[in-house]
Amino acid sequence: MKNIGDILALPGDGIGAEVVKEGLKVLDAVSKKHGFTYNLKNGLVGGAAYDATGNPLPPETLRMAKEAAAVLLGAVGGPKWEPLDYSVRPERALLGLRSELGLFANLRPARVFPELADASTLKREVVEGTDLLVVRELTGGIYFGKPKGITMLEDGTERGVNTLVYTTGEIERIAKVAFEIARKRGKKVASIDKANVLECTELWRRVVTKVHKDFQDVALSHMYVDNCAMQLIRNPKQFDVILTTNMFGDILSDEAAMLTGSIGMLPSASIGLKNGMYEPVHGSAPDIAGQGKANPLATILSVGMMLKYSFGLLAAAEAIDRAVSSALKKGYRTPDIMAPGCGAVGTAEMGDKVVENLG
Ligand code: IPM
Ligand code: MG
Repeated sequence: MKNIGDILALPGDGIGAEVVKEGLKVLDAVSKKHGFTYNLKNGLVGGAAYDATGNPLPPETLRMAKEAAAVLLGAVGGPKWEPLDYSVRPERALLGLRSELGLFANLRPARVFPELADASTLKREVVEGTDLLVVRELTGGIYFGKPKGITMLEDGTERGVNTLVYTTGEIERIAKVAFEIARKRGKKVASIDKANVLECTELWRRVVTKVHKDFQDVALSHMYVDNCAMQLIRNPKQFDVILTTNMFGDILSDEAAMLTGSIGMLPSASIGLKNGMYEPVHGSAPDIAGQGKANPLATILSVGMMLKYSFGLLAAAEAIDRAVSSALKKGYRTPDIMAPGCGAVGTAEMGDKVVENLG
């Protein structure tokens, strides 16, 4: 039997542990059906790691993450750690993993399952059929640019600074990822910028246009981010691949999430030069943590993305997608996607239902 290597589970905080457990349950089941093995490792990250070691991203976790073929992360953060200094906040661990592992491409699909079209706050006819992918640059832009920080001015007031910066190379490599993926999907890329105001994104537009010369079979359009925010709720079906910067991608991917009914449905993949990290788009949801109510489907679908992007196990990845669809078709619903006439299930039961429906 083929061993695909080390998979590091980093459950993190809040509902992270509950949903990762279900992701691993499905991984275990699918590996048996599809004839592969892996070495499962576990690590501490986020607030849980801070409590245990004083560091949200302990060196041991980083080492394991670098050595692993893929990382499955739950969620980090919670009100308990909000008073902490920025440098040791749980969120820092996420940013640290992204930059230390060189995970420059973040893929966030927003696909509306027909069974859930009514769970969206938008009308069914607007969202039904939506199948888009946000390709977000993840290791550059305003999240990492320097100078940054808050300084005291002579008059006793303060000045806060962050810097939006992109180099040609950073734009080229993320643009290539977007075009290559679009080639295997709907062959359309919408590149999102604010080139009418921000010079940095004028460069973004220019470089994306240049990279596109090698991808003439893919249609490229450019859109300002404010217009994109509007178009996403006006007519989301116009989009196939949305290519954008770190911060615009952060914002637009949350907006896209709501098209699908619940952020509890959205998986993500962060890929780089070597390994990949997979995580649900949702956060640690401290309000429902430990109650067995969280929707594990985003994490389960993230496991599917892992099998596809890190290991090229397409049949196994598709089996997970199909099993999620089947569980939804049969009417199983966690509270966030509950609808009249459906059956309420908890986190673990939803994981079981997906396993039962693996073809
Ligand atoms: C996300 C999150 C993170 C981000 C936070 C938690 C640092 O919002 O993954 O979208 O801003 O990238
Ligand atoms: Mg976000």
